[in-house]
Amino acid sequence: MTLSREIIRAEKIHKTYPSRSGKGVLEVLKNVDLTVHSSQITAVIGSSGCGKSTLLHLLGGLDRPDSGSVYWDGQSIYDWDPDKLAEERNRRVGFIFQFHHLLPEFTAVENVYMPALIAGQPVEKAEERAMQLLDQVGMADRSQHRPSQLSGGEQQRVAICRALMNKPGLLLADEPTGNLDEENTELVLSQLFDLRKSEQVAMVLITHEKEIASRCNTMYELKQGALHPYTLVN
Ligand SMILES: Nc1ncnc2c1ncn2[C@@H]1O[C@H](COP(=O)(O)OP(=O)(O)OP(=O)(O)O)[C@@H](O)[C@H]1O
Ligand SMILES: [Mg+2]
Repeated sequence: MTLSREIIRAEKIHKTYPSRSGKGVLEVLKNVDLTVHSSQITAVIGSSGCGKSTLLHLLGGLDRPDSGSVYWDGQSIYDWDPDKLAEERNRRVGFIFQFHHLLPEFTAVENVYMPALIAGQPVEKAEERAMQLLDQVGMADRSQHRPSQLSGGEQQRVAICRALMNKPGLLLADEPTGNLDEENTELVLSQLFDLRKSEQVAMVLITHEKEIASRCNTMYELKQGALHPYTLVN
């Protein structure tokens, strides 16, 4: 058995946006703490507009809080300059969004291995791993298709492979099946959970759906700017 170690820790992250009226601020996150260990799957549920995507963006270093810290493997990510942060993010964190954000002019396999090329890997080696990942989600025979030639579920399966390409320690998934029908939701979720397990990646999964959250080891509800432990009997 491998020992569980801390992958990400957010400490007292506070985030406000200017309010729509231009007067005052909208307090979205109020001194939120969150720690995720290796092999842990943490679900965050909450109503629309409560700040779930904001939290995920801050955990992934895509945005900065007004105050507070985020640590990846114990290192404070705001100590890094933007180039270093981008480089570390590409290596350590995989993102999956509601919409796939695949690059339309590249094939499925090229989209999957792009993060490895950015990290400086040779293309042959990158392509080999990308093909293995696509094979694991049953997409090897669609590897030469462009995103527009794939269904919504297939596009999301490619996006999952891309997120895992650089063997990150952490997956951040924001409503990854929010745009799919029931059948595709089930397939994409089961592949996401299987791959996450075989690749031994920790995950923070944002979802509206309690049933999806219940498949995770830890559940929180984001409400009025704070994370509350959540159980299904609530
Ligand atoms: N860049 C921004 N400027 C101003 N307000 C913002 C900005 N981004 C988000 N907000 C506001 O912050 C609040 C939280 O937004 P966020 O996108 O994090 O919610 P969410 O929980 O992900 O919602 P959903 O479930 O609909 O995706 C919302 O009221 C939103 O309008
Ligand atoms: Mg959102």
